[in-house]
Amino acid sequence: MSTSFIMLGIESSCDETAAAVVRADGIVLANEVASQMEVHAGYGGVVPEIAARAHLDSIDRVIAASLNAAGLDLDGIDGVAATGGPGLIGGVLVGTVTAKAIASARQLPYFAVNHLEGHALSPRLTDKVDFPYLLLLVSGGHTQLLAVHGPGAYERYGTTMDDAAGEAFDKSAKIMGLGYPGGPAIEQLAILGDAKAISLPRPLKGAPHCHFSFSGLKTALAKRHAACVADDSQAPVESQDLANLAASLQRAIADCLADRTKRAMERFAEAHGASTLVIAGGVAANQAIFETLSTLAQGAGFAISVPPAWLCTDNAAMIAWAALERRDQPDSLDFAPRPRWPLDPQASPPPGRGVRS
Ligand code: KG4
Ligand code: ZN
Repeated sequence: MSTSFIMLGIESSCDETAAAVVRADGIVLANEVASQMEVHAGYGGVVPEIAARAHLDSIDRVIAASLNAAGLDLDGIDGVAATGGPGLIGGVLVGTVTAKAIASARQLPYFAVNHLEGHALSPRLTDKVDFPYLLLLVSGGHTQLLAVHGPGAYERYGTTMDDAAGEAFDKSAKIMGLGYPGGPAIEQLAILGDAKAISLPRPLKGAPHCHFSFSGLKTALAKRHAACVADDSQAPVESQDLANLAASLQRAIADCLADRTKRAMERFAEAHGASTLVIAGGVAANQAIFETLSTLAQGAGFAISVPPAWLCTDNAAMIAWAALERRDQPDSLDFAPRPRWPLDPQASPPPGRGVRS
């Protein structure tokens, strides 16, 4: 396959409208991201209808900016890829329709990319990690442990039974009045806090499977936050209490991720031997979590790989790259966007409640 193939990638499944131009040899020629963070900040989370309208408003401009940054026009593009799901369907529709229109007008191959596959293959864009590897995908919408065997070949070891890790950060930050997105705000505040000051649970610690649960942690944090208000009998909560809450929450989430990942590394090593642990998704930007998992991986004989921050949070370079990994297999223009799209449809569901995919 030609290494000079140039892919235009489009991402619009959540609150970032992004376009990138990536060459098959791994050179990122352009990577533009228009964040809607400010639009949603006042709501404490992403509002789907507002997100879809904002994607529509900016997608043409973002694509034009990325072509401009790459020094190309559409004549220089060999294929068009867009996130086809999973995600907020209004946004996915905007990206999909745009990509199909370009592909159809220019007679270019079209690729419908699974957003999770974009995250899953992203370390290969910068680190050239070999298959198979163990992936901990931790974002605002997903928390999954997967054995990655190759493009389209995933074995899901575990997923969350309720909230995603990023959601636990975001919902807790909302309770604490820290705004959206919660992860970076909590990480910053945690520097000033004592992680041992407030006792929070470690849901599913020691469980024999690799699934996650975070909703109990958020509820416990809400109770401890309310107790701080009651103790002080004044609002807002003392800043030291808030910092202690942030540090204790971050430690609890890091401990839960480490405990479940340890179990997954054992399972992976039994089947394939020790390999590389890749952490991807927005939460991978958290330094305390990275350090915890790094120590864990070293102890188990695994190498660790974390894509750079610009590739960890939502972006279109990872979408273009996932399509480049299978550039000889384009999709039909009939592809229907999917709000849910598990990477491993055969995976057994976690015990208990509903499953996120
Ligand atoms: O991958 P991503 O950009 O979008 C999704 O696909 O969800 O991840 C966004 C999530 C948000 O929940 C955000 O709070 C979290 O990643 N996040 C962090 C940090 N930076 C972003 N969580 C913890 N610490 C951070 N530094
Ligand atoms: Zn994502």
